[in-house]
Amino acid sequence: MARTLIAGGTVVSATGRSGADVLIDGETIAAILPRRPEGGSGDGNGVGAGDGSRADGDGATVDRVIDASGMYVIPGGVDVHTHLELPVGDLTSADTFESGTIAAAWGGVTTIVDFASQEQGGDVRDSLAAWHDKAAGHCAIDYGFHQIIGGVDDESLAAMRELVDHEGVTSFKLFMAYPGRLYSTDGQILRAMQVAGELGAMTMIHAENGIAIDVLVQQALARGDTAPAFHSRTRPSELEAEAVHRATVLADTAGNVPLYIVHLSSADALGHVAAARAEGRNVFAETCPQYLYLTLEETLAKPGFEGADYVCSPPIRSAHDRGGHGHAADLWAGLRSDDLAVVSTDHCPFCTADRQRGRGDFSKIPNGIGTIEHRMELMYQGVVAGELTLERWVDTCCTAPARMFGLAPRKGSIGVGADADVVVWDPAAPTTLGLGDGRKHHMAADHSVWEGFEVAGRARTVLSRGEVIVDADRYLGRPGHGRYLPRSLSPHLR
Ligand code: URP
Ligand code: ZN
Ligand code: ZN
Repeated sequence: MARTLIAGGTVVSATGRSGADVLIDGETIAAILPRRPEGGSGDGNGVGAGDGSRADGDGATVDRVIDASGMYVIPGGVDVHTHLELPVGDLTSADTFESGTIAAAWGGVTTIVDFASQEQGGDVRDSLAAWHDKAAGHCAIDYGFHQIIGGVDDESLAAMRELVDHEGVTSFKLFMAYPGRLYSTDGQILRAMQVAGELGAMTMIHAENGIAIDVLVQQALARGDTAPAFHSRTRPSELEAEAVHRATVLADTAGNVPLYIVHLSSADALGHVAAARAEGRNVFAETCPQYLYLTLEETLAKPGFEGADYVCSPPIRSAHDRGGHGHAADLWAGLRSDDLAVVSTDHCPFCTADRQRGRGDFSKIPNGIGTIEHRMELMYQGVVAGELTLERWVDTCCTAPARMFGLAPRKGSIGVGADADVVVWDPAAPTTLGLGDGRKHHMAADHSVWEGFEVAGRARTVLSRGEVIVDADRYLGRPGHGRYLPRSLSPHLR
């Protein structure tokens, strides 16, 4: 079993930072060795050929030394909201399990949790089996699954029990949006929450009032308001906030069962999460970089059909909806206070040709955008800008998602016995995101909503279970390295 020492860096956890070397034995972290302040070695050029002669803290030799001088050493990123190879009608989201997990690895992500999807009329177990078939043997990093319950009935409720007991699937997503496809009534959501509560599983809710939104969409189209910007204008934040509030009430009615609001996009909605949490309820929420950085005016409202590339739900909103000015809450403050516990991507890109479906009718544009490669660096800009501490960055992007979804302590932190999923983060490296001027990303989509974004800091060296899968500008991983992660029930502690 190869022994690797990551030497000279600053190890950052959700609760602190210190100068320490990280010893890896095979696939596992074997020791964290505190260093004297003057510690550090080498020239910062990355993975060095081990000569077998370097001694670790136990006096034993190591096979390889990774020089992390001047770098942060952080846990591999954990993205608990992705949609790889997601069928939507006759289209499929652009990234396969192979391309999506390779792109994730480039961005310092070593674990994803994707959504197996049962649509109305489908079978839950069959959908999970289909997701296993798509992923097995193709992933560059480890992966787990949540289960979407798109049709709540006796059979799907029974399947939830089986998935928790036998499949390591311990979280279930239900939709207040998308009537006719994935939507559940309040009664169905309550029933599913009751079952999840009995099982100790997490209920995840897509909180938008889809019934009211459908009325606004039909009215907009009838008026001739067919451009992409109307995707956002027909999904106002009030209808997200109302749905979030309703979800918290339903979860309380079901017995204060754990509730996780996915892809929360507005300060109005956050206010309801904060209020429920202030009352001691088991309510948690995530947001995504697109809601922190992009605005309706600069994206969906671009001239002609250009805005189509930015269609996702909840929609990208006006800066005002993000909060701050005059709002009781704002999304960055929510991340600091833990009312927003997690940042994930909701990675679900479609190529530009697929989006053409919605020319003349914005409601036909497939929903979803791509960020799997850029979440860690985008959120690191929050550190650069003074919005987040380094520790909070690690917590929201690595530690909290792993804990909340039954992956800790193996994933999400650098601890003895944990999987050696470690990122050596170069805090200085400037990068321009996107595809213009000869730049490239590793995601499959032919455009980037992050085009031209300038970021400082990036993943220099990425290890997944002790294997270096990215180093400097080289991808060294392989499809099939990534393993399925059966997840345990998590304590859901705040
Ligand atoms: O637009 C989005 N978010 N597409 C993916 C499906 C979902 O609701 O998460
Ligand atoms: Zn959703
Ligand atoms: Zn999603």
